[in-house]
Amino acid sequence: MKGVVLAGGTGSRLYPLTRVTNKHLLPVGRYPMIYHPLMRLRRAGILEVVIVTSPEHMGDVVNLLGSGSRLGLDLTYRVQDEPGGIAQALNLCKTFVGDSSFIVALGDNILGEDITDEVAAFREQTAKGSGARVLLKEVHDPERYGVPEIVDGRITRVVEKPDSPPSSYSVIGIYFYDSSVFDLISTLTPSRRGELEISDVSNMYAAAGTLTHGVLSSWWGDAGTFDGLEEANKLSRDLFYEELGGEGAR
Ligand code: G1P
Repeated sequence: MKGVVLAGGTGSRLYPLTRVTNKHLLPVGRYPMIYHPLMRLRRAGILEVVIVTSPEHMGDVVNLLGSGSRLGLDLTYRVQDEPGGIAQALNLCKTFVGDSSFIVALGDNILGEDITDEVAAFREQTAKGSGARVLLKEVHDPERYGVPEIVDGRITRVVEKPDSPPSSYSVIGIYFYDSSVFDLISTLTPSRRGELEISDVSNMYAAAGTLTHGVLSSWWGDAGTFDGLEEANKLSRDLFYEELGGEGAR
């Protein structure tokens, strides 16, 4: 299975920290933020990964990560010319992914647990048929995220940043898709915030009855805001240090 890490956007919720650098290069624990999704993929055995970022920051991201060999990864890059949403960024990975199922990680999502079992669950799902899988985490502030409505154990829809959340879960930034996702993205129209929303993609799978989900048991953070960044820093202080140390990360 191949992986996609989305590291575009303007990082406006973190200004001025992100005025001259990409959000995904800010420190989280002992490493730049983007190491976290990359290491989660690596631990799950996903070594072939494409990174999408903006033209302004592509140089810095490549300077940091290069071919990926220092992290034991095989990296490819795609440029998102203008910020236009997660689904638009994902669409740039069509030729990289080809006909296979794949996993997408948002570059600012920091997870306290391994996702190998989730990768296996999605492999099993696609061996039998098709579809998508999302991961959920119970949160105290669901209105900040994509929120699932769950009926009889299945997600019936996902509402992006709802005023009245239909549950207390967030759909976190790890998504599994079959390759039909690209046909679905081509039918999307921009949301109120002018973006092609990943929640609209989930809704199409939910409507087709092919959206499954897992629930995280450990901590999770979206480091795209000051509060989220501060929390992620505390929680992930020693994360991956055993594998990477200072040496492996140089
Ligand atoms: C994005 C998604 C949202 C998801 C969140 C997870 O939100 O649109 O559905 O819950 O990531 O971090 P954004 O960070 O773009 O506001």
